[in-house]
Order: sequence, then structure tokens, then C-alpha cells
Amino acid sequence: LNYNVNRERSYILQVLFNGLRRLEYRGYDSAGISIDSDFSSSCSSDAHQPSSNNSISPPPLVFRQEGNIESLVKSVYQEVAAIELNLEKSFTTHAGIAHTRWATHGEPAPRNSHPQTSGSGNDFLVVHNGVITNYEVLKETLVRHGFTFESETDTEVIPKLAKFVFDKANEEGDQTVTFSQVVFEVMRHLEGAYALIFKSRHYPDELIACKRGSPLLLGVKALNDDVCNGLAFHDAKFLSKNSNPKELFLSSDANAVIEHTKEVLVIEDGEVVHLKEGGVSILKFNNDKGRNGDSRSARPASVQRALSILEMEVEQINKGKYKHYMEKEIHEQPESLTTTMRGRLLRGGSCKAKTVLLGGLKDHLKTIRRSRRIVFIGCGTSYNAALAARPIVEELSGVPVTMEIASDLLDRQGPIYREDTAVFVSQSGETADTLLAMEYALENGALCVGITNTVGSVIARNTHCGVHINAGCEIGVASTKAYTSQIVVMAMLALAIGGDTISKQERREAIIDGLFDLPNKIREVLKLDEEMKDLAKLLIAEQSLLVFGRGYNYATALEGALKVKEVALMHSEGILAGEMKHGPLALVDENLPIVVIATRDACFSKQQSVIQQLRARKGRLIVLCSKGDAASVCPGGGCRVIEVPQVEDCLQPVVNIVPFQLLAYHLTVLRGYNVDQPRNLAKSVTTQ
Ligand code: G6P
Repeated sequence: LNYNVNRERSYILQVLFNGLRRLEYRGYDSAGISIDSDFSSSCSSDAHQPSSNNSISPPPLVFRQEGNIESLVKSVYQEVAAIELNLEKSFTTHAGIAHTRWATHGEPAPRNSHPQTSGSGNDFLVVHNGVITNYEVLKETLVRHGFTFESETDTEVIPKLAKFVFDKANEEGDQTVTFSQVVFEVMRHLEGAYALIFKSRHYPDELIACKRGSPLLLGVKALNDDVCNGLAFHDAKFLSKNSNPKELFLSSDANAVIEHTKEVLVIEDGEVVHLKEGGVSILKFNNDKGRNGDSRSARPASVQRALSILEMEVEQINKGKYKHYMEKEIHEQPESLTTTMRGRLLRGGSCKAKTVLLGGLKDHLKTIRRSRRIVFIGCGTSYNAALAARPIVEELSGVPVTMEIASDLLDRQGPIYREDTAVFVSQSGETADTLLAMEYALENGALCVGITNTVGSVIARNTHCGVHINAGCEIGVASTKAYTSQIVVMAMLALAIGGDTISKQERREAIIDGLFDLPNKIREVLKLDEEMKDLAKLLIAEQSLLVFGRGYNYATALEGALKVKEVALMHSEGILAGEMKHGPLALVDENLPIVVIATRDACFSKQQSVIQQLRARKGRLIVLCSKGDAASVCPGGGCRVIEVPQVEDCLQPVVNIVPFQLLAYHLTVLRGYNVDQPRNLAKSVTTQ
């Protein structure tokens, strides 16, 4: 945050803390903050003493804390009395930074939290998302130049490198080296993925942000009416600082900005954003050296772009009447699915035909139909959603569909051909493995299609075409509403690829009718909430849960088990029922709870037989079946039965996952775990 109006110091703390709270779902093992200081004694909770150099501003204050954001807030407000005493002071420009971390290098601890620092005196401070892959080499060089390191992070090399560059310029007599020149020189040495924000006591009214790979956006809040509308940024012409008082925000996610402004600029790879005294300039990093052999003499290219408006409301990121985001997101699925389908399904009208319109794909459908293969690529829940849609895409398109977990495709360097259509499924649009797989498929010449929930994400921008799932912001780390919207989008994709073949007309129309009615069916299945809570009470002390599914609902078994595993921290395994006899049957006894998915579809009779075999071994069964089928799935009683509304077979996974989402939610709450921030997990896994 950087602003140029009179505000109290407490304002910057509030804004930064609230911003961190909005981002906490992305990482929550430690956090840190740095604000300017105008008093000489250091209050830093991890002891960065101010420098004795009186010619520069007092060192910025740094607070870093293990644990969640509230632990940081507590340490800043309560443990450090000096801050409290100075809260009333006001000033005109303030540049503050903050970060919430999900550990990659080094355990969660204050020394490993961000901002990372150049050393005592806090000459340069950096917050970082991503991973610097060549940090060990850089560290060795810096150590040779006398730097000592206190953390195990890859990030620490960045502020130290900035100090090294700055000191070198000054030693060489260049007293005019600018903040952006220092950062350009640092960027020349960094390899890997990053979104970075730099703060420095040498440039107290300034912040510099830059990125490569990891997401970053700039938010501009005009404090006069409409001064930002249609605004464009020019090279080195800072937006006038006095005539247009404004607040500027840099964030990895729109969530932290939306309550202040909807006017944003998505920063591109290689761009360097320089905020100075409330003004902005954007420069393009090029790796060329200038006449004197260093990047300080190279002229950075300018960037001129207009702000865009975020299509998002602040209500979307509040919990509303719910206790947890996961609960809210499960219950808003009738609405999120409606939004996913809005304007994309056509029924009736003059031509009376029922069709699907996916604007983002229309110019590429012919190519997709002619593909040698369709390859679905994703991670976690997104992979499961693609797996759920695979049968209908195969059926309607006639094109073979193969499935790839992104990391595995990369590990094997599996073949991807020019004639392939590679479909990247990702809620965030920024999962590192999926991004790397996308680059790999692009290099191999495949047509790349993106299916994401995040407008402006790397996958949305770098694929040839795609569909946004429009599920609305998902904050709970365990994906729920994005999963169901992803399946619906891929069912629509199947319909669109299937085109107008007469032989499949009836089937297509039945699916379209089913899609129209789906939100109502989800409303119905959500009424199982209490029943699933009762089931959760029954399972609360269990160690393990097995889930058997097949056909359309093999994916439901995997995803149902994943939900229970990731939030309720209970071992849980999804099993392809056709494989039961090849191993899993050995686990069956009267104690281990087993869920069998046996809703009506072409596999129903096979699942009936699975149930018989499990019962013959005294299996403790919970059967998920279509309404009215209790007696058919469990003749003579003796199993717990959950009945769900029946829908078109390919849409049944959308209905069937809801009871599992509810079960996982209630199990977690009853077991006393954090539903929205499960242990060791993060919403967006931006590192490999
Ligand atoms: C993480 C999240 C999962 C998510 C997966 C893939 O593991 O915790 O909920 O399914 O990443 O994320 P993506 O954003 O690519 O769908």
C-alpha cells in the first residue's frame, strides 16, 4: 500500500492487516509487516536495530510472527507499546508492505517470515511469492562479499542482493542510483518464479513491485471523483501525486483490494511497477545490459495500459450468515451453478433447438473436433472434475480423452502432440505444476484450452482459448463450488464439441434439460445437511474411510475421499469399484466404514453386486443411492442409506459430491479442526 494523503499510522496498519486477512487462505503459517518509522528506537519484534547512518531515513519497522495473522496483529498492537504511543502521528505518504506465508524453504518461524531483510538497518526489505531456484549460488556469492544469512529461505538473497547493488553503485560514486535501477539489476540475477515487493529506507516514499510467473495486481483508489477512469500509465511519468490524491495497492489477489477499489491493472511478467509519493510508473524489464555493461545504463522500455474494472463484489469475500467459507461455498452451489450456465444454454426460441454457446471456444471447436486426443490436465480437485467429465466428453465428441495429473506429465515428459487438444483445468489458474504443464504443451504445439475460475490468471491469459467457470471467489482451501462448476463447464464443453450430430440430438437435449434443472436438484440435496451431520457424529472417531465408485462416479469416490482427508484429517481413500477384488477387499471387516456410490446409471447393477460382496464380508456399509432405491441397494436393510435426487447420468457427479462435502465439513467441525485452513495445505500451490 502506498498513499499520499494525511492519514494516521493506524490506518496503514489496518489496511495491511485486513489485506492479509483476505489473503490468509493462500498461506497461514506465519506473517510479517513493515511500516515506516519516524522515531529512532527500534521496536522490531525480531530485533533489527536501526542503522547509525543519520543521512538516511529511520529504518522501517519490521514485525514477523509465526502462526496466523491474528498472532501478528497481537504482537504489533499489544506486545510493542511504542507503536501504540505513536499511532496518533499523521503523515502524507506512507509505503507499507505485509505478507502471509506458506512455508516452502525453512520451517514457519519469525526468521523465515517475510519481509526478508538486507540485514540490520533494514536498508532493503522484500516480500516474495514464488521460488528463487538459483538462490544457493547467489547466497554463496553474497556470503563471499561479507553478508550473513539468518533464515533458511530462498527469499533472503533478494534484499541482500539489492543492498549489494545499492552499496556498489554508491561506492562507485553513483549517488543518483534510483530504486528501479537497483531492482532491475537484482532481477537480472534471479531465476525462478516470483512476485516481489521491495521497500527501502533509502527510498522511503517508494515501493517497487515486479513479477515473473506469480500473480500480482495494482489497485488504484482515487480520492477525488472519477480521476482514475480511463487512466493510462506512461513511462516515467508518475501519475501526478498532488492533483490526484490516491491510494495504491499491490496484491497477489484481488481479494485484498476489492474493499478499497475495483480499478486494477494486472501486472504482466517482466513489468516493474514503481510507486513513488503516491504516483505510479510502469517499466518493462529487459535483460539487456547498457553501454557500461550493467543494467543501470540500459533504458527500460515503457508500458502504457489502461486500468480494468474488477467484476467482483466485496460481499463475495464475506462469510455472510455462515460460520465458515467452506460451509458458505457448499450452500451457494445452486447460485454458483446458475451463474456458470448463464447465457450459455439456449432452449426454445425461434429455432427451437437446444444448444450450448461457449463464446471463448467458438473459433476453435473445429480444431478440437479434429484432434487426435483431448488431454485433460490438472491437480487435486480440478483433476477430479476433469475425470468426472471424461466419459461424457468421450461419448459426445468421439475423440479419445486421456487424463494427466500435471506433475506426473512433467515427471514423465509424456508425449503431447501438435494434433492434441490440451485442456488445463484449474480453479486458481496459477497452480505451478499446471502452469508448467501448459508451457510444455504450448512448446509441443498442442491447442491449449483453459478452464479456470480466475479472470486474468496465467492460464486464462496464456492458453489459446477457454471458458471461465464463473463460480465466484472460492476462499475455503477445500474446493467445493468450483468443482461442481468445473464439471458443468466440461459437460457444456462436451455438448459444444459434439455439435449437431443427429444421432446424439436426443441425448444432448436431455443433458441440456438436466443442466437447466440442476440448481434445483442441488437445493434438494443440500437438505441432507442434518443427515450428514448425524453421519459425521457416527464417524467422528474413525481412523479411516473407504469410498467405492465407478463410471461417472469414480471421480466422486476420489473427490469425496479427498474432501474428508484434506479438511477432517481422516485417512480416506477413493477406490474404483471395478478394482475391489484386486486388493481393497482385503481391508473389509465389520469395523471399517465404507461408502458405496450406487446411483442409477449404466453401472448400477455392477454396484449392486459390489454391495452384495461387501456385505458377504460383513462390511460396514453406507450406500449413496437414487431416491426410492434404498430397498434395491440394500435388500433386507442393514446398511445406512443416503438417498439423492436422480439426474442425467453425466450430471450425477455434481449432485453426488454434495453429501460428501457436507460430511467432510461436519466431521471437521466436530473434530475441532480448522475447516477453511486445513493443516499444511494452501489454496493456491504456486510452487512445485
Ligand atoms: C491445492 C488446493 C486444492 C486444488 C488444487 C489445484 O491443492 O488445496 O483445493 O484442487 O490445489 O488447484 P487449482 O487452482 O489448479 O484448481
